[in-house]
Amino acid sequence: MVSRRTSQAVAALLALGALAALGYALRWRSNPSPCPYAQRRAIDLPRPVITRSRLREVLEPRPGERVLEIGPGTGYYTGTVARALEPSGTVHAVDIQSEMVEHLRTRLRQEGQSNVEPIRGDARSLPYPDDAFDAAYLVLVLGEIPDRKRALDELERVLKPDGRLVVGESLPDPHFVGFERLRRSVERRGLTFETRVGTRAGYFARFDAGTAKRSTDPAE
Ligand SMILES: C[S@@+](CC[C@H](N)C(=O)[O-])C[C@H]1O[C@@H](n2cnc3c(N)ncnc32)[C@H](O)[C@@H]1O
Repeated sequence: MVSRRTSQAVAALLALGALAALGYALRWRSNPSPCPYAQRRAIDLPRPVITRSRLREVLEPRPGERVLEIGPGTGYYTGTVARALEPSGTVHAVDIQSEMVEHLRTRLRQEGQSNVEPIRGDARSLPYPDDAFDAAYLVLVLGEIPDRKRALDELERVLKPDGRLVVGESLPDPHFVGFERLRRSVERRGLTFETRVGTRAGYFARFDAGTAKRSTDPAE
């Protein structure tokens, strides 16, 4: 039989463990940084809520479109979106870590997927002209970016006037961005919230550039 003293000690240890985990998560949140390449196996695990088919449903990638992916990592979603753009559309995949870019290149080669252009780059300073993309998406990335306002400004800049933006987030990612906070930040840039699938703890949210870009057109 377990003594009272032992169970009290176990409970104290569990509470300490929980506090340490919370402290670790809070430290991560206040010091955003890219998910290390060493954790690539964790980001390749199957996802029950933010599935590939749900991303496709919300993003609606169409043949011939030019689509931007920020932070593709190992490419969990890249091939799925790229296939929907065939035969003439392209995914431009920008990741800040060269190991991720190399990993993605190898994966795409092995899968025979040739309509993806992976490059090393930073979401806060995108190497593309204004109005370059029909759609953009980023999954489990926004919270890792120290200046996320700049990244959202850049996304708004490179989207076409009728462009679409999809953001995916899910717990237990320590950099999780809650939906209400995301919605406020994105709508402040003039994009309109369209739809959300999933739950509060794991979702894809879609915004349309529409009105924001059209109303700044000097011809109007
Ligand atoms: C948690 S992983 C998610 C990868 C992928 N989107 C997925 O869902 O599996 C985050 C990725 O975002 C990239 N990233 C972080 N900050 C970035 C930035 N400022 N610009 C571009 N990529 C960034 C990281 O290098 C990493 O590959």
